[in-house]
Amino acid sequence: MTKENNTEMEKIVSLAKRRGFIFPGSDIYGGLSGTWDYGPLGVALKNNVKNSWWHDFVDSREDVYGLDAAILMNHKVWQASGHVEGFSDPLVECTKCQERFREDQLEKKECPSCGGVLSEPREFNMMFETHAGALKDEDSVTYLRPETAQGIFVNFKNILDTMQPRLPFGIGQIGKAFRNEIAPRDFVFRAREFEQMEVEYFIRPEEWQKHFEAWKEVMTNWMQKIGLDMKKVHELDVPDNERAHYSKKTIDFEFDFPFGRKELYGLAYRTDYDLSKHIEHSGENLQYVDPETHEKLIPHVIEPSLGVDRTILALLASSYTEDEVSGEVRTYLKFRKEMAPVKVAVFPLLKNKPELVEKAKEVYEMLRKEVPSVVLDTNGNIGKRYRRQDEIGTPNTITIDFDTLEDDTVTVRDRDTAKQERVKIEELLEKVR
Ligand code: GAP
Repeated sequence: MTKENNTEMEKIVSLAKRRGFIFPGSDIYGGLSGTWDYGPLGVALKNNVKNSWWHDFVDSREDVYGLDAAILMNHKVWQASGHVEGFSDPLVECTKCQERFREDQLEKKECPSCGGVLSEPREFNMMFETHAGALKDEDSVTYLRPETAQGIFVNFKNILDTMQPRLPFGIGQIGKAFRNEIAPRDFVFRAREFEQMEVEYFIRPEEWQKHFEAWKEVMTNWMQKIGLDMKKVHELDVPDNERAHYSKKTIDFEFDFPFGRKELYGLAYRTDYDLSKHIEHSGENLQYVDPETHEKLIPHVIEPSLGVDRTILALLASSYTEDEVSGEVRTYLKFRKEMAPVKVAVFPLLKNKPELVEKAKEVYEMLRKEVPSVVLDTNGNIGKRYRRQDEIGTPNTITIDFDTLEDDTVTVRDRDTAKQERVKIEELLEKVR
């Protein structure tokens, strides 16, 4: 990573904390590696991302059903899926300083911290293990799910029985996933607790290529729509020896993060691997019966899998901008309006003039009824307020000044150009919508 990119990452992490987007988890106790807490603006940004995904991948489609499955599942699910056996990373330990690393992430065969000799690699299972109930025995073992997908596969029959869908159809879900990463790093990029947005799309096997291409397009369109910098997005056809155990073809959408080009999302052809394994292990009949021909088959699966937290980081990296306004460096987040956590901020020009504050409140109340996420900002001087709103990516700021009291006009400032125009209050709604 170049020094410049390192600085960019530091600036993003610092802004995220300073402005209430993302805090280190358990901060007052020195943190817990690989965990992050989303503050008021972070949660608003996350909800905008998740709502947009849910709209495009689930709600707006007649062929996709929503689901919210439990995080804890019977441990047999994970034996069937192959995660107990195979969901592991190669762990090496420095024989000198005892620090632990993922072998496949190391550039040299020596300890990156102290240069010491590394141990032989051993497979480290990344699932968090726990016990359900008071007894801690083999039967009570359960895991925090490492992917949301299995919650979908175990509900396949429930959806068939209750919704009577016809192939092809999908089941979509957003939820937390947990992985005991050996080396969590790069902010929210590699965390131990994170969120996924996944669809398992059930198809006839002979049609897999067609559906794979269609989902690739859906993913690309959505990335464009939310405002990712598409110059930084690249497709990688994952080679045979690097694909997950269940996949016959995977494309990774990679993103040029400040710390390098890394996986943002995955699109996989999971074949009938999961349903077949669950048939074998549960003894249940998970076949699909064609209502017209009565043909029985185990559907194959195309899986678009998107991480919420990596989306947030890619959005921050796509939006982070510095320019110069009135001879001073200014930082702003160039979020699309739909993604911005705050859409409009209303200021009185001076906070110690009650008539301006009163009028600002009036305008704020009027907007609040019609536009989501409007704030009234009276903290600090006007310059500070502009800086704060720019830094959190608020597209428009409205200032109430002495002219407002005379002629019912306000200034509307555009975040990206920092230009202001005077607008009649009665025309404000149309302007900021
Ligand atoms: N169901 C398929 C699956 O889980 P994956 O490639 O292991 O596939 C899918 O994960 C997505 O989840 C990734 O592309 C990434 O966006 C996100 N993801 C995976 N591990 C993550 C981690 N440790 N921290 C943050 N996001 C992660």
